[in-house]
Amino acid sequence: MHSLNGEIKVPGDKSISHRAVMIGSLAKGTTTIKGFLNGADCLSTIDCMRKLGVSIACSKDDPHTVSIKGNGLFSLKAPTETLYTGNSGTTTRIISGLLSAQPFGSTVDGDSSIRKRPMKRIIEPLSLMGANIMSLFDNGCAPLVISPSHLQGISYSSPVSSAQVKSSIIMASLYAKGKTVITEPVKSRDHTELMLLAFGADIVSDKNTVTVTPGKELYAKDIEVPGDISSAAFFLVAGAITKNSEILIKNVNINPTRAGILTVLSDMGASLSIENERLLSGEKTADLLIKSSSLHGTTISGDIIPTLIDELPVIAVMASYAKGQTVIKDAAELRVKESDRIVSISENLRAMGCDVIETSDGMVINGGTPLHSARISTKKDHRIAMAFHIATLPLDEMNILDDRDCVNISYPGFFDDISSLY
Ligand code: S3P
Repeated sequence: MHSLNGEIKVPGDKSISHRAVMIGSLAKGTTTIKGFLNGADCLSTIDCMRKLGVSIACSKDDPHTVSIKGNGLFSLKAPTETLYTGNSGTTTRIISGLLSAQPFGSTVDGDSSIRKRPMKRIIEPLSLMGANIMSLFDNGCAPLVISPSHLQGISYSSPVSSAQVKSSIIMASLYAKGKTVITEPVKSRDHTELMLLAFGADIVSDKNTVTVTPGKELYAKDIEVPGDISSAAFFLVAGAITKNSEILIKNVNINPTRAGILTVLSDMGASLSIENERLLSGEKTADLLIKSSSLHGTTISGDIIPTLIDELPVIAVMASYAKGQTVIKDAAELRVKESDRIVSISENLRAMGCDVIETSDGMVINGGTPLHSARISTKKDHRIAMAFHIATLPLDEMNILDDRDCVNISYPGFFDDISSLY
């Protein structure tokens, strides 16, 4: 058992880092990104954009500073090999929208997890725009083979609230003839919209609808990436469930489309304060102070789900330490993440002695009973590994993770950062 005390700065936001590289690559001039997340997923995006002829330099002195020399929307070059996106769903889906609009063909492929993740959700709307994009094995998954075609704008009502789907269509719409209107059931994270607007695109957001009118050139802009709330989430939960703890997490992105975990923490009785609110490169940012808390169960469902989807593994861990029942529903999207997270969370909580019932779109956790450390099957899913490292901090013995390296996908240095608070 460790109490956790001190100050921490989590790595840059993953979603914003991906977008900064892609949008910077399409802008005229040099974009310098500070606070870039140099995790494996965002490095896959850099690698792909380089294969499309963009000059991208990572600073030797500071791995979080990246400089991109963009030559405008129409400057990408045909790649000479497959664009490999590793484990990154964000790279795969957003780059496929961009590639669908290029005057050259390309193939996009990733690791074994990416090859299982649903791509029909982008193939369908992109095909409606006139794109020539197909799943090589005809199973609705990567590898995706894209051939040149002319795109037209569409009005699309997406069945899922997914920023990857929305952003994929937005990227294609920058090159389409006529405007594109995308509506989602619930507004998903809006980093693409905010950044494109800052770079000069004609893009208008109104509640859960985005309208893109093509024809505007993009111009380079320096970006400071705030800390990732999905990484901060591990410290928020760690501080709340561990006795005698107090952690100040500096410089965290609290964009309302991402900050559902803050509502859940307060609903569960956590001692949390949000300090020093400000804007960083157009994104709402703050410092978060969390203290040991006496937690109780809650229901997490409906419109809040897209705003905390990536935090649900660690929220479930928090629920296992909270008195009473926590119900998570409307979260079937968890089944198509890096692993089937409803299964990964339930299996591992059960291994720790928690009473958890898996449902089709979530789970029911009866928390507050004694837990014990266990062997954790991470399924090489970074967020499962980190959530179940946190899960064990209040106990005498630590969980044993079957794979620790997968945290490098989104948070290299995670284990060191946690131990710096012991
Ligand atoms: C992301 C969007 C979310 C999230 C993922 C990153 C993004 O996925 O789960 O980790 O950067 O656009 P969906 O778009 O599938 O909801």
